[in-house]
Amino acid sequence: MNKIIIEPFKIKSVEPISINTKIERQKIIKNAHYNLFSINSRDVIIDLLTDSGTGAMSSEQWAGIMRGDESYAGSNSFERFNKAVKNIFGFEYVIPTHQGRAAEKILFEVICKEGDIIPSNAHFDTTRANIEFQQAIAKDLIPDRFKDTQLDDPFKGNMDIEKLKNLIDEHLDKIPIIMMTITNNTGGGQPVSMANIRDVSDIAKEHNIPLYIDACRFAENAYFIKQRENGYSEQSIEDIVKEMFSYADGCTMSAKKDGISNIGGFLCTNDEELSNRKKDLLILTEGFPTYGGLAGRDLDAIAIGLREAMDVDYLNYRINSTSYLGKKIHDYGVPILMPPGGHAIYIDAGLFLPHIPKEEFPGQALACTLYVEGGIRSSEIGSLMFGDNSPHELVRLAIPRRTYTQSHIDYVIEIIKEVYNQKESIKGLKIIKQPKFLRHFSAKLTTIK
Ligand code: F0G
Repeated sequence: MNKIIIEPFKIKSVEPISINTKIERQKIIKNAHYNLFSINSRDVIIDLLTDSGTGAMSSEQWAGIMRGDESYAGSNSFERFNKAVKNIFGFEYVIPTHQGRAAEKILFEVICKEGDIIPSNAHFDTTRANIEFQQAIAKDLIPDRFKDTQLDDPFKGNMDIEKLKNLIDEHLDKIPIIMMTITNNTGGGQPVSMANIRDVSDIAKEHNIPLYIDACRFAENAYFIKQRENGYSEQSIEDIVKEMFSYADGCTMSAKKDGISNIGGFLCTNDEELSNRKKDLLILTEGFPTYGGLAGRDLDAIAIGLREAMDVDYLNYRINSTSYLGKKIHDYGVPILMPPGGHAIYIDAGLFLPHIPKEEFPGQALACTLYVEGGIRSSEIGSLMFGDNSPHELVRLAIPRRTYTQSHIDYVIEIIKEVYNQKESIKGLKIIKQPKFLRHFSAKLTTIK
């Protein structure tokens, strides 16, 4: 088993990367006011800002794009998409949307009202925002011990069952739905075990509350179950996925992740009445139910991408190449959120830069240094993003699917090691201008001398 895990694909089309110099990057970051969202992608060497919509499509997906049927109603592309999604996830009704957050918007508009509480293992920020937009409360129920970034656990994405029971005991009439995010993105790309999904489902059924899964990284989660959970090593990814979703009443999905497509999403449910209400909203905002804000060709690309994301050779390469990056830097002493996640590695910038207080944004300071040293773009998930309430100061290195090769990742490792060697010289940042909401996207910062 010592064999190198190779990228299980050949490259047919390439996109050039332009290599700039450190002196150029120092100017670029200064002009961008130390905000990586303000940098043009042409000035980035390795872009690890997100794994969303940044994957490389396969030759089959491109062939699907050409087969796309752009009919307004009754499109053949929708038929293929509908069949693929029903087959994989097993739900009765499938509603296409332009991306994941559109599915969330429709779900919460239909299912929740002011004052409701929506528990989850951990809501992603768009899910939280869509719940709060309905004047409801998004509640994360991660076990307290998992908040320690250095604790290693095979299923660190699990929901805390006791916390869920207590919440239901106190507020049963205020909980219209329970959500489960697989894998858990805000908590480090960590998987949820089958046992945990089953336990949450039992509790949901007992109280007649529907359980929905945020399915963005469903295939990666299934691979972790196959690798780590007793009784699943001989099962196919397809069967594990079927079982995971058999415990749920519906799901929301961003096809930009494990759909390996550049755009798209969907909402599934088994409830006919709910599905009709969702479709009414869909027509208002997204489009007719057989295309939902997408082109027919996108539906074909997603139908094919969802299957490719479950290929075990692909997943073996995918999960191992992410953990390769994590392990190499962790062995060097770089503090990362343990264990390595499925789609990303999260550096603990609070531990990496103990001399920078959280008021001076250690995560952003580290992200900017990675850019200056090696043209690597990452994202801060810490006090700049969440303000004083942020539990951690993390820098996320999200790995796009099938996009970078091992030498790109080796380059990233080399740069991180160099930055680690000179960590004492990194200085904090201060905000000079910020908007009222979601400040991390557009805040202007400067270095503290
Ligand atoms: N749920 C999760 C767990 C996500 O990670 C995302 C997006 C969404 C929902 C929303 O999907 O972008 O298609 O509307 N995450 C991206 C990221 C943006 O970088 O982690 P969307």
